[in-house]
Amino acid sequence: MTKCLAIYPGTFDPITNGHLSIIKRGLKIFERLIIAILHNPQKTPLFTLEERVEMINESIKGISNVEVDYFDGLLIDYAAQKNANVILRGLRAMSDFEYEFQMALMNRKLNREIQSVFLMTDYKWFYTSSTIIKEAARFGGDVSGLVPEIVNRKLKEKFPQLKNT
Ligand code: PNS
Repeated sequence: MTKCLAIYPGTFDPITNGHLSIIKRGLKIFERLIIAILHNPQKTPLFTLEERVEMINESIKGISNVEVDYFDGLLIDYAAQKNANVILRGLRAMSDFEYEFQMALMNRKLNREIQSVFLMTDYKWFYTSSTIIKEAARFGGDVSGLVPEIVNRKLKEKFPQLKNT
């Protein structure tokens, strides 16, 4: 297979072990990966853009050929501007499918040169998401093992009720 540059986009609020698994597996296929954080000033994420960049950078320490960036506006325009060939997304349960299919088709309508590629998530991360992890943490649930160590620490700063593990 021709190796190439893939964009791995997302909100990453925060990055999870599921995301990290897709990043590592993506790097077995693609030469280079850019983790692209959607920066949408209209949305109010739990973590600021700077915090998300920091957590991702810490989580990918020691992994080569991957970098972190952010974008606003259309993902496909950002990908074209970076000369990327691929948009990489992870697919979890069936519930992801409709949204991902819609997004891939819209992106394809906008630019046929960039292919959307999906990796099925590892069974360990099938039912986890940044949203459900934040909800558990907010109410004091232990989420260690689901997120990188730095994210666990940052979640504890946001939610002091989170159990010490
Ligand atoms: O982590 P998420 O929230 O599932 O990521 C969604 C993301 C950032 C990939 C998607 O919302 C996105 O690409 N937003 C930018 C606007 C865009 O290009 N939308 C798709 C075509 S209209």
